[in-house]
Amino acid sequence: MIDWFPPIEARRTEANSRVMLRWRTLVGLRTLARQIDGKDPATNGHCERVARLVVALADSLGWSARDAERLAEAALVHDVGKVCLPDDILCKAGPLTPEEYALVRMHPGVGASIVQVALDQDQTRWVLHHHERWDGGGYPAGLAGREIPAGAALLSVADAYDAMTTRPESGALSKGEALEECFDEAGQQFAPWAVAALPLALRRMERRAWPRAVAQPLAMMPTAAAAEAGGAA
Ligand SMILES: [Fe+2]
Repeated sequence: MIDWFPPIEARRTEANSRVMLRWRTLVGLRTLARQIDGKDPATNGHCERVARLVVALADSLGWSARDAERLAEAALVHDVGKVCLPDDILCKAGPLTPEEYALVRMHPGVGASIVQVALDQDQTRWVLHHHERWDGGGYPAGLAGREIPAGAALLSVADAYDAMTTRPESGALSKGEALEECFDEAGQQFAPWAVAALPLALRRMERRAWPRAVAQPLAMMPTAAAAEAGGAA
């Protein structure tokens, strides 16, 4: 019996179409995540800002450009699970009722089940665990300390820092105040090693001084416009 394999060109084409399919799916998820963020002026642009900050954090910690890019991809869609929330909860300025909070706590699990179609296993776990706390009091799994995947620990700090500095309902903090708050929460809410990287990451963001190898993938992250251009090609 003769084994049959498709010609090399066909295999290349198949691999290319897998890459394109993943890329287009990511574009769709990113667009959905932006729409969800944009429903409330307080969160508009949140995932994009978090992606920039996690790249700077990963870079400050010596992550490779490829892993920083993977983390940025996860950051861009980390809150897509909020699609399960009604608008009155999504945009609520005041404190949540216990029932509403129970719904909000579902969003990382819903998000992970959505993003797994385009992201790898590690990236999906970063999305799933981005609300865990270092002291074990987070959700959805109550992981503690080093049980929390590193990417999720970085997402958690970047997510909270962005919320502190941009949400008007909580009285947006200055950068210095937010930094102080993050250091106060190191070892409780946040991984101490992740908080320790924050000052350097913020300085690099201000100077836009991260290496080209990291800046380039972030700049090339798929957008709806890029997808249309890709479709036209
Ligand atoms: Fe979230």
